Amino acid sequence: MWLGKYILFLLCYSLAPSLADDEVINNKYFPDDFMFGSASASYQVEGAWNEDGKGENIWDHFVHTQPELIADKSNGDIACDSYHKYKEDVAILKEMGVSHYRFSISWTRILPNGTADYINEAGVAFYRNLLNELKSNNITPLVTLYHWDLPQVFQDQGGWLDDFMIERFGDYARTCFQLFGDNVKYWLTFNEVKQTCLLGYGYGTFAPGIQQPGVGDYQCTHRVLKSHARAYHIYDDEFRSTQEGKISIVIDTNWLEPESNSTEDITATHTKRQFQFGWFANPIFHGDYPEIMKTRIAMRSELEGFNQSRLPEFTQEEIDYINGTYDYLGLNTYSTSIIKAIPEADIGVPSWDSDAGVFRIPIGRLGRFCHRLVVPWGMRKLLNWLKENYNDVDIIITESGYSDDGSSLDDPRRTSYYQRYLSNVRDAIDDGVKVFGYTAWCLMDNFEWLQGYTQRFGLYHVDFNSPNRTRTPKSSVAFYKKSRYLPLSCRYMCVRIKLVLFIW
Ligand code: NOJ
Repeated sequence: MWLGKYILFLLCYSLAPSLADDEVINNKYFPDDFMFGSASASYQVEGAWNEDGKGENIWDHFVHTQPELIADKSNGDIACDSYHKYKEDVAILKEMGVSHYRFSISWTRILPNGTADYINEAGVAFYRNLLNELKSNNITPLVTLYHWDLPQVFQDQGGWLDDFMIERFGDYARTCFQLFGDNVKYWLTFNEVKQTCLLGYGYGTFAPGIQQPGVGDYQCTHRVLKSHARAYHIYDDEFRSTQEGKISIVIDTNWLEPESNSTEDITATHTKRQFQFGWFANPIFHGDYPEIMKTRIAMRSELEGFNQSRLPEFTQEEIDYINGTYDYLGLNTYSTSIIKAIPEADIGVPSWDSDAGVFRIPIGRLGRFCHRLVVPWGMRKLLNWLKENYNDVDIIITESGYSDDGSSLDDPRRTSYYQRYLSNVRDAIDDGVKVFGYTAWCLMDNFEWLQGYTQRFGLYHVDFNSPNRTRTPKSSVAFYKKSRYLPLSCRYMCVRIKLVLFIW
């Protein structure tokens, strides 16, 4: 067993450098106002799943009813216990010297029944206290309204497959703006719609576990995009003038690179980018789903015997309502995939993958075991592609990070990841991309969804065997802390300076 793991480890790390360009670490300072931060999400860190009046959400339900689906059969019932330890969280953010903290609000903690007619004061107090603590420590909050924890009561009525969700989400968003908006200048409506819909309502591997590939995923996205627009307009119409904040959405994607210069691989890559990113971004930035999605899904739906395309259509009124609902872009990105064209998939059970063309991703199979491959140049290429294709939008990287099994506090690979990825972000600034912040995923080890606690992304280690959930900095914290003030190459130079000072 250990031998197998060891061979896999060697394979993963011998493959990763083969994907690297010639790398030079950018030596320049980041602009003074560049935001350096870290992130978390309610279900992954808060715990207190049923305390002080919180209602059940779909992840509570999913892990309690099917614990076998989680790698270590764990759950987020206690997680990092941030509900009780938020002051410690802010203290470690302060210790890291970050300028911002991205966290999410648990819908059922403030609205236990999902609807806005009953507000749970204890839940409100928790977020108010967290916001106050951040304020007293001069840390800017970035608040996500929805990081996958839908009220179970709404799932029982169809969840994101049903239109009623648009108004419910609007009510929830309004409640949050009313309650917290004086202290929040950056809002994010949804985190990673792709995972919410493709995994939650398509393949069904994530909560709520609905398996309707090639149908449920598109229906879900349709509702989520309209809900995003609803929240954006509520903010715009009712709050922007007094609260003066900004609001957007988080879209995730790897950088996709063609395997060769062949027309087939380049076309395949373009198509895959539209299915992976354009699916969510194009309606918001350009007004409708990408043409290639509309054409391919309609074509395959007809061959499959559907009497209309499985991709729902927006009315002109909806297109106008959704188009332009962004003040900036939240980008989650971790890695790069290499795309190669393969022949059209057989007509059979529909799926997003076969709609996209089932392009082979040569490193994907290995990548699954290696978690995510480290390909720093993908970051720069992705940022430039976004600038060119999405209206030269202001971008904040809302997640990027490195995982391991968490067995050591000494994590040079995580340090190297941040150094090399940040260097490419700095290069992208030189290229003219308007990227104004970077948010390391994540502040501390936490409940990593299907991986439970077996996969760790934290800058801080959390001792899940201790009732105190003790937070301890990993060695990467020292590097991340310096990145805000010093050139990235300072990783080594600083050690030398320190030694000189010490000797002196
Ligand atoms: C995406 C998600 O937003 C976050 O919840 C997750 O933990 C990280 N990426 C790592 O997989």
